Amino acid sequence: MKYFVVIPAAGKGKRMKAGLNKLLLELEGKPVIIHTLEVFESDPCCKGIVLSVHPDEQSEFEQLLLTYNIKKVCAFAMGGQERQHSVYSGLKVLPPESDIVLVHDGARPFITRGTIEMLVKSAHDSGAAIAAVPVKDTIKKAASGTVSKTIDRASLWSVQTPQAFKKSVLLHAQQKAEEEQFLGTDESSLVERTGYRVQIVESDYDNIKLTTPEDMYFARAIIAKRMERQV
Ligand code: CTP
Ligand code: MG
Repeated sequence: MKYFVVIPAAGKGKRMKAGLNKLLLELEGKPVIIHTLEVFESDPCCKGIVLSVHPDEQSEFEQLLLTYNIKKVCAFAMGGQERQHSVYSGLKVLPPESDIVLVHDGARPFITRGTIEMLVKSAHDSGAAIAAVPVKDTIKKAASGTVSKTIDRASLWSVQTPQAFKKSVLLHAQQKAEEEQFLGTDESSLVERTGYRVQIVESDYDNIKLTTPEDMYFARAIIAKRMERQV
């Protein structure tokens, strides 16, 4: 089943504290964004990639695509102030033939083909599906350092990307959010508030988002584990 993917890559990576967009950091010999792009480049079901970037960085990204022979980027979009804006601007430049659309953080290089396949199928059948893993920790609600509630973990999911949608579902949700000036941290939250039901696809714990400096150590460990399994 074919799909397009929008990859927001226009962040500043402030929490990574590297002084540059964290997607340009080297991870075992190539930039983080290349690890992410290669998953989609090598997936025969991926028909095209839209990359949302900051205008000042577009030429750097273009150069990387050439260097690493990434051919599926069919359009660049202008990244916005918030992640949601970067995604919306990517959606607007998708080719007209696109139907199922994935949104995937540039900062999640360990997404697997298996999870993508399940998401695309679920979005095709239901309209909206998100990758998630069961929460491992006990989660408590607290105010001013005092616990007010322990939330039943059995019902909690830690949500990742990709998030997959029929294009019309996501576009409608984005338009509504813009009109109502609602800002969410993921696409699902926009879709949920239109009343649409979003399906969960169980992903895996390796699909981390590289956010803070120690995540780069975890990332190297994941790569080492994968290489061990290959031999
Ligand atoms: N992103 C984007 N446009 C923004 C903000 C974020 O395209 N205005 C992208 C990032 O490049 C990243 C993904 O959205 O691939 C997830 O965001 P996050 O992990 O928060 O990355 P940054 O915003 O770069 O990091 P930070 O919040 O620490 O500054
Ligand atoms: Mg951010």
